[in-house]
Amino acid sequence: MPSDQTWNRDGLPAWSYRSSSLLDLEKNRVFLNHWIVVGHVNDLREPGDWLSFDLLGERAMVIRGKDGEIRAFHNTCRHRGSRLVEGEQGHCRGAVMCPFHAWVYTLEGGLKTASQPDKFPSLDSKDFGLQSLELETWRTFCF
Ligand code: FES
Repeated sequence: MPSDQTWNRDGLPAWSYRSSSLLDLEKNRVFLNHWIVVGHVNDLREPGDWLSFDLLGERAMVIRGKDGEIRAFHNTCRHRGSRLVEGEQGHCRGAVMCPFHAWVYTLEGGLKTASQPDKFPSLDSKDFGLQSLELETWRTFCF
């Protein structure tokens, strides 16, 4: 480790602040490839409590299920991609309902009902549940 006298304090070169290729490298190697803290388990005390966040164009939600487990999903409806929950934190009573055409998902991410199901070919609810994201809880923090 360099001593205080030999440590280069010039900082990053100016080009690095304007480089789109360096930004892409940071996005892919740092922000989309490492664990990011999204909240604390106390933010999700009750089934239906949720947190949401956007990161580099991706939308995510973290929600506690009726079974007490905390899961993460893309914050995107499987019908036409509408954002399911709006804001940073909230509570869904019993289910997650898409605000656009009212598809309903269980708190565990499964498709409960599609609105106007007669207009669709038979939908296997397992195939149209919310898309999962990796989630780990470590020392009461969700990553
Ligand atoms: S986009 Fe969600 S129900 Fe249509």
